[in-house]
Amino acid sequence: MAGFKQINVGVIGTGWVGGIRANACAQTVLVDELHIAEIDPVRQAEITAETNPASMTDDWRTLIENDSIDAIIIAMTPETARFPIVMGALEAGKHVFVEKPIAPSLAEAEQAYTLAKASNLKITVGYSRRFDPRYAYVRKALQNGLIGEPVTCLISRHSTRELGEKITGRSKMSPTSIGGVHDLDFVLWCLQPRKPVRIYSQTTGKLFSRKSDTPDHQWVMVTMNDGTTVTIGIGWILPAGYPNFVQAWIEVIGTEGALSIDDTHKEIQYNTVHDGIRYPMSSMPGEQIDHIFAGSMLDETKHFLEAVAYDRPTMVREEEALLVMQVYNAADLSAELGEPVMLPTN
Ligand SMILES: NC(=O)c1ccc[n+]([C@@H]2O[C@H](COP(=O)([O-])OP(=O)(O)OC[C@H]3O[C@@H](n4cnc5c(N)ncnc54)[C@H](O)[C@@H]3O)[C@@H](O)[C@H]2O)c1
Repeated sequence: MAGFKQINVGVIGTGWVGGIRANACAQTVLVDELHIAEIDPVRQAEITAETNPASMTDDWRTLIENDSIDAIIIAMTPETARFPIVMGALEAGKHVFVEKPIAPSLAEAEQAYTLAKASNLKITVGYSRRFDPRYAYVRKALQNGLIGEPVTCLISRHSTRELGEKITGRSKMSPTSIGGVHDLDFVLWCLQPRKPVRIYSQTTGKLFSRKSDTPDHQWVMVTMNDGTTVTIGIGWILPAGYPNFVQAWIEVIGTEGALSIDDTHKEIQYNTVHDGIRYPMSSMPGEQIDHIFAGSMLDETKHFLEAVAYDRPTMVREEEALLVMQVYNAADLSAELGEPVMLPTN
């Protein structure tokens, strides 16, 4: 295909999600060399066996300084320590894919986009729902007016307490800012060109609050400028059912019909005498099953690699990424104040 150029990619942090990204890089002809930075020696050994990288280091600066690397995928945690890596990669002239959140604050995210634009580099963020065909279908149906005018949308998503503890153990972030971002991005993408104008949020905490001030659940209600209402709930205290289990129920009601996604991950039931019923293939990013990837993260990673290799735009645009941040910041402020927060409409 015209314009194709194999690229060299660095992945920083190869835990659960970075491991999927690194494997996606190792599997595709788009990538010539894969370079990895990972501080955990056990993960270093595991991921080396899986992906046979051209180099492995425990210092991310080694990848930033490597002139042969075209693009960097940043999936290390804690999220709060990532911004210097994002800026370092851009300053070194590398395209960047970063797991959400793109930066700790809106001002820093804007700084990263400004630098990327000035340097003609791509920067994008992992809003993986867009690469799930069911979600893409709902967006297409709404954009094509299949259910008339949208009236109201509901998303209720819950993950296990095991995952909640992992997330809240590393950064102090609200359920919406770390988990609900995916759903906010999805809904705002579906409802374009409508804009969010009013945000109200409430949190509740009865379990995690025994050990910290982390809430167990957060509801966010968004009113769009045409009056469409959106309600998104994110919780992370489900009992463990399968590693990284997540369930979501989505419905969009319109003037001429309704759309729903049953994303409760109950399609495959695995029942044993020892463990009872479990639900495989039930995590958000998905998982590799021998020769096939069950989930959205492989396609999302390939999309970024193709954008770099073919010099195409990435799917999540700057104004979209920044708008999602504005909404979750407003939601966290609303939860703190106990009253609605208005967004600028321009
Ligand atoms: N898009 C999605 O569906 C989705 C799903 C889950 C998580 N995420 C995001 O992915 C990110 C990673 O989450 P995770 O669950 O994979 O975390 P994880 O803890 O499993 O992995 C993080 C890895 O980074 C490594 N690391 C830490 N500091 C490092 C450093 N300085 N240099 C190199 N490596 C370093 C750790 O050793 C670990 O292996 C998070 O930001 C999370 O929000 C996205």
